[in-house]
Amino acid sequence: MHDDLSPSAVSEQSADCYKHAILEDGYTIIKKAVGSNIVEELLCKLRHIISTRKQYATYKTSEEGGGYLTDLQNEEVMFIKVVFGEPILRSLLIALLNDPFYRNMPKEKANYIFRGIRALDDVAKGLPLHIDSVLPSSSRYPTGISSSFILENHDRNNGCVLVVPKTHRSDTFADRSASDRVVAIEAKAGDVVVWDTRLWHGTEDNPQRNSRLSLLCTFTSWHLKQPLRHYDTLPNHIYQQLTDEEKSIIGFCSIPARDNFESHHDAKFGYECLAEEI
Ligand SMILES: [Fe+2]
Repeated sequence: MHDDLSPSAVSEQSADCYKHAILEDGYTIIKKAVGSNIVEELLCKLRHIISTRKQYATYKTSEEGGGYLTDLQNEEVMFIKVVFGEPILRSLLIALLNDPFYRNMPKEKANYIFRGIRALDDVAKGLPLHIDSVLPSSSRYPTGISSSFILENHDRNNGCVLVVPKTHRSDTFADRSASDRVVAIEAKAGDVVVWDTRLWHGTEDNPQRNSRLSLLCTFTSWHLKQPLRHYDTLPNHIYQQLTDEEKSIIGFCSIPARDNFESHHDAKFGYECLAEEI
């Protein structure tokens, strides 16, 4: 465990600023959130995974080369510690995604869940405008927040994130012809780009296939179904290094019971449900 990975206090003023940006524009950038030594260590681990193709089953190659590295939470505990522990992002997620009526968990703790940690490799063709939330809505309450931990500088030539501001409450799917309203986010290594999952977004093309690694993680309210059973695939040696809060974000406190004989709760469990070993 690295000293500078532990959450520190976030001033209410700074957290409010980011929250305001997400609610108004649908996105924000937390500048210099991750120190350069941590960025280097993460890059080193990612490059090792890429070069050894350690994740044979989960490396999805795109037609143009490059691809996604998925399920990174199962590879290195550091990915979880950094992504779940960044104090401004954590504070934002608690403010925006926590269920205030989740009585089995302390109020100051996260009760949201994640949808896996992955990385986007040097794909040549940019992602078209899309939403991450499956369905659009105009609600003032977001149900999901996506984050990109930038590990190498992103610019218009290497596939940076593109967003269409204020579309998160448009109640419509992404209009792929809205390129005139697109804003390119040229972020630096160590920044974290954060957006409401309903925001129209994509990535720029990366024709030279320059390396532009980042760690991607989407978080949602606890009641939304995770696409994969992350709690079934996490190795026990990684589970043993997690805090109760981190285990809960993986999904261990929201696993549906088999029926009402097994539990009368609606998959809103507290830390007492956590097993010693998995
Ligand atoms: Fe996306």
